[in-house]
Amino acid sequence: MDSSEPTRRDFMYLATGAFGAVGVAAVAWPFIDQMNPDAAALALATTEVDVSSMAPGQSITVSWRGKPVFIRYRTEKEITEAKDVPLGDLKDPIARNENLPSDAPATDANRAAEGKEPWLVMVGICTHLGCVPIGEAGEYDGWFCPCHGSSYDTAGRIRKGPAPENLLVPTYAFTADTVIRIG
Ligand code: FES
Repeated sequence: MDSSEPTRRDFMYLATGAFGAVGVAAVAWPFIDQMNPDAAALALATTEVDVSSMAPGQSITVSWRGKPVFIRYRTEKEITEAKDVPLGDLKDPIARNENLPSDAPATDANRAAEGKEPWLVMVGICTHLGCVPIGEAGEYDGWFCPCHGSSYDTAGRIRKGPAPENLLVPTYAFTADTVIRIG
């Protein structure tokens, strides 16, 4: 067996780490499940998040329509790393940003918030088979999905492993300087 392959114990550890990262969201989900579907859908149609207390290098995970959404305030280094990637190196050349045309290219600018390049807002579900990737991990310093080893870069673009697409950027907007409305 290739010694770089995660062992089962490693996987359990990584999976536990991933769960911890979405702890807030995980608490919310059972509650939502108990509401009737219409009320739950209404409650979750949009989610507003105050990010005023976040500093560069910090991430939070919020729940939106029952899914984890990663919000990351990127460092200068992360932005530079993402911008330096030639588009030809990308496995998925499409931005996958619901705020842009469906054929928009996966430049860093097309992945980040409009006019606020440090901010990334992405659905935290691996595009392979739906695990929740771990932040600040993997070969490209972005997100790593331990289920089958997909690595995403600092713009959430798939760079290695079986996942076919970049992490999805949902419909969202900054409604104030530090308030994001998702949905
Ligand atoms: Fe993420 Fe398979 S679900 S790599």
